[in-house]
Amino acid sequence: MSTGSPTTPPTDLVRGVVVVAAGSGTRLGIGTAKAFVPVAGRLMLARALTPVFAMTEPTAVVVVAPDDRLDACRALVASVAGAAVTYTTVVAGGGDRHASVQAGLAALPSSVQTVLVHDAARCLTPAAQFDLVFRTVESTGDGVVPALPVTDTVKQVSGDVVVGTVDRSSLVGVQTPQGFPLAALRSAYAASTQSETDDAGVFQAAGGTVRFVPGHADAFKITTPWDLQRATAIVAERSGDVRADVRLGLGVDVHAFDASAPCRVGLLDFPGERGLAGHSDGDAVAHAVCDALLSAGGLGDIGGRFGTSDPAFAGATGDVFVRGAVRALADAGLVPSSVTVQVIGNRPRIGSRRGEMEAALSAVVGAPVAVSGTTTDGLGFTGRGEGLAAIATALVRPS
Ligand code: CTP
Ligand code: MG
Repeated sequence: MSTGSPTTPPTDLVRGVVVVAAGSGTRLGIGTAKAFVPVAGRLMLARALTPVFAMTEPTAVVVVAPDDRLDACRALVASVAGAAVTYTTVVAGGGDRHASVQAGLAALPSSVQTVLVHDAARCLTPAAQFDLVFRTVESTGDGVVPALPVTDTVKQVSGDVVVGTVDRSSLVGVQTPQGFPLAALRSAYAASTQSETDDAGVFQAAGGTVRFVPGHADAFKITTPWDLQRATAIVAERSGDVRADVRLGLGVDVHAFDASAPCRVGLLDFPGERGLAGHSDGDAVAHAVCDALLSAGGLGDIGGRFGTSDPAFAGATGDVFVRGAVRALADAGLVPSSVTVQVIGNRPRIGSRRGEMEAALSAVVGAPVAVSGTTTDGLGFTGRGEGLAAIATALVRPS
């Protein structure tokens, strides 16, 4: 599997999925790119990708992300993908969904014959929908959309006057993933002159036939704060009484300063600051987070699990350990809910980069990470500027 690096894709992949996640979430109104908003403690994009990576057929996956979130998106993809049999790449989206889909289609390996296009915002779509749409495209050669009957009475209006009732028996509401023969969808996009609201619209405008299969109520699109609440309630219902099963973990790490090493703290580089000594990159914040996650799962600690003197981890960056902890949790049927970490030391000052550090750590953990900082009033090894300490807590729950 590739984790977004431009390595050569395998030449035998015939299935591809494009997940569009580059929208800004204006109507949700949280001020964060929508795909990176937590839904019941797990980032929307992590939830959206879980069924994609659960597919048993080898599949090429392209994630289309906001252009200022590419690194965070790559980290998140690597965490969620685990051992899935996929080729995965992350590309920057465009100004509207149409442009983002085009960017995703362009990044698929040339061996792909059937593609599904999926909205990250439909993050609770069950895995079976992906299989159903793939199989229907492959057996018919047509475009395929999941659709549900319209249940409300639909009226035609003019201004504030109701003009008439539309016969709803011939109406459906469509969802994603929408599936197509790739070559035909690429040509349809290349030929499209007007922006359609879905891929089937583009495909049909170019003369393609589109069929529908049954959609699923959980595949609704999170658009408004109300949708987010509904999604949260569905997740709680799926996992039973979540609170009863939440487990708490604690992690502490300390590294001495080493002026000859580059400074990496909380997965960020701090140019011009003294680095931290260690067999790996000495990122005490990432290591404390890793230990908190492992301890929440009762899975031991970073030294025992990753071997602090193992040559495989010489110079390893902090994300390697955090990702390893997330995978160990997944193997144990657990998933992070939230993490907090406090950085204790005089330097580097993290205040101005706290948001950036939270985003970088959250992307790897797949759940919100809150970062804070403190000094020790000149006391102790941190006060004397000899080293940096970090203390983290983690909540995990059954996946
Ligand atoms: N999308 C995208 N690139 C864009 C716009 C949208 O990849 N330039 C994606 C979104 O990330 C989402 C899907 O298309 O997964 C459906 O879009 P929508 O629900 O409208 O999401 P946003 O555009 O983020 O929301 P809003 O319109 O409220 O800003
Ligand atoms: Mg939009």
